[in-house]
Amino acid sequence: MTTLDDELPDHVRRNREAWDAWAVDYVDNGERSWRLAPGEEKWGNWGIPESEVGLLPADLAGKDTIELGCGTAYVSAWLARRGARPVGIDNSEKQLATARRLQAEHGIDFPLLHGNAETVPYPDATFDLAISEYGASIWADPHRWIPEASRLLRPGGRLMFLVNATILMLCMPDAEEPATNAMLRPYRGLHRLEWTSDQSVNFHLGYGDWIRLLRANGFEIENLVELYPAEGATAPDFPYATNEWARRWPTEEVWMARKRA
Ligand SMILES: C[S@@+](CC[C@H](N)C(=O)[O-])C[C@H]1O[C@@H](n2cnc3c(N)ncnc32)[C@H](O)[C@@H]1O
Repeated sequence: MTTLDDELPDHVRRNREAWDAWAVDYVDNGERSWRLAPGEEKWGNWGIPESEVGLLPADLAGKDTIELGCGTAYVSAWLARRGARPVGIDNSEKQLATARRLQAEHGIDFPLLHGNAETVPYPDATFDLAISEYGASIWADPHRWIPEASRLLRPGGRLMFLVNATILMLCMPDAEEPATNAMLRPYRGLHRLEWTSDQSVNFHLGYGDWIRLLRANGFEIENLVELYPAEGATAPDFPYATNEWARRWPTEEVWMARKRA
C-alpha cells in the first residue's frame, strides 16, 4: 500500500523526499540495532540501555504492536523477539528497503507498510501498543498522528513515543548545530519547525499542549521519562548537544500513556 506523493500533506511529501535521500546514512545504525538481543536494546541518540531505563512493557508476549515511522524497523524487531506481533509503517520506501533486507537476514518477518502514520490502513482497535522512536513522534503532525494512534489502539492499549526534549528544541540553533545555553525560539505556540539546512519539517509541542492533546484523544499519561547520557558518552551521528549539555538538561524524552478503557 503506497500513498501517491501528490495526495500527501506538504510536510509528509517533504519528509518523504528527505528520508528517501537520508536512508543510506541510517543503514549502519539499523544493522547495529537489529543485532541487539532482548535486554541489550539501546534507545535514542545516546544509546541509553533498556536495562537501565526499563521503557518496554514487561508483558509483550502475544501483543499486537504498531511502530509509527519505523524506519529500519529495529524497534519492531526488538518487540518481535520479546514475543509481540509487530506491524511497521514508514513514509520512506528507501528506509523500508533496509528494513526488509534486515528482516530476511535475521529471519524475523512482520508486515511493513509504506505510508503516512497519520492515516494508517488498519481498523479501529487493532493494536495493544503504538510505539515511535523519533518516527511519527517528531516527523508527523501530532494533531493528526495522536488521534490516529488512539483510533488504532484497543481500550487499555499503550502509547509510547520518544522525541527530542522540548528544551533542546528551544536551545538548538539549527538541525546540525549543538544546543546553546540560550533559548533561541519561543516555547509558546511551539509546533511546526522547518530548518534552514534542509527541506524537512519536524513537529514539537510544549508540555501543556502535549498533555491536553493526549487527554483530548482518550489517553491517561502514565510517565514522562527524561533520558540523560552516561558521563563521557558520545552521540556521534547526532551532535545536537554536547555530553556536558545533555547531562544537565534532557535532550530526549519518552512519553508513556494508556488509552482509557
Ligand atoms: C529517525 S527514523 C525513526 C526510525 C528509527 N527508530 C530510528 O531512529 O532510526 C524517522 C523515520 O520516520 C519516518 N517518517 C517521517 N514522517 C513519517 C510519517 N508521516 N509517517 C510514517 N513515517 C514517517 C521517516 O521516513 C523515517 O524513516
